Amino acid sequence: MSAATKAPATVLRHEQIKPKIGTRILNSKEELLAGGHAADIRELLEQRGVLVFPEISFTPAEQIAFTKTIGTFAPEGFGNNNEVTKITLDVKENPQSAEYLKGSLYWHIDGTRNDVPILASLLSCKVPATWGGNTSVCNTYAAYEDLPEEKKAQIEELRVLHAPWASLFYYEPEPSLAKLEGMQRIGEKELPLVWTHKSGRKSLVLGCTAHHVAGVDYAESARLIHGLREWATSEQFTYSHEWKVGDMIIWDNTGTMHRAEAYDPNCGRMMIRTKLEGEEPFDVA
Ligand code: OGA
Ligand code: MN
Repeated sequence: MSAATKAPATVLRHEQIKPKIGTRILNSKEELLAGGHAADIRELLEQRGVLVFPEISFTPAEQIAFTKTIGTFAPEGFGNNNEVTKITLDVKENPQSAEYLKGSLYWHIDGTRNDVPILASLLSCKVPATWGGNTSVCNTYAAYEDLPEEKKAQIEELRVLHAPWASLFYYEPEPSLAKLEGMQRIGEKELPLVWTHKSGRKSLVLGCTAHHVAGVDYAESARLIHGLREWATSEQFTYSHEWKVGDMIIWDNTGTMHRAEAYDPNCGRMMIRTKLEGEEPFDVA
């Protein structure tokens, strides 16, 4: 697994997309699959939030192989036992999870129900949307670092209840009780608003699963959650990827939020996803 020890035959070629987020990787698929760039890719991912591999055109098997070069492959829990997951809002293609994916149209972090959220997701484009359907990613390390010191002090110790059922109301304002209860059975979890990583860097933990700030008056809690989300997703911290067939992106799920931008659910947009197992908990024990 330790690809980091292999000597790379080529240098990692890359260019910055925006000052506070995003780097494009320019190597060929053969150079990347050789595995020797894994350590540099991991480092860049943490620094830049999202890496873009334009028209890299990995087959599913190559995407799996590449994923395994940069960390521990995380199997998906969506019912099928294939190693890649189809990401589409089309219910014919994805009967189990198309409904659940409606929440992915709003800013979120993957796996806020887990003690250790996944490290990263790799998403590649088989069929782009007919309109819309960009994937946007924002840098929650940079958003935290650029907050005024008094805001940092104000939010330092706060904790937020995260629940998938909170995101239900984003796309279905009047759900049936049965549906609400079904979503509530998935669970909920209290997480720190500011995540202090092993590296010492800090990032914001927000998104459409954030329901309220523990122990804070509801109106104040809503201002905090939505005000910080507005800040973290402002232009300077955000990159929106317009997909071409064969593009792949990786986001650092521990230092970003992401979302799919609106698109026609019946247009055939089809993405393939693999994930890397998480390596650190939200909470230091
Ligand atoms: C995901 C996700 C966004 C997209 O796969 O976790 O949020 O653009 N995808 O499909
Ligand atoms: Mn997601």
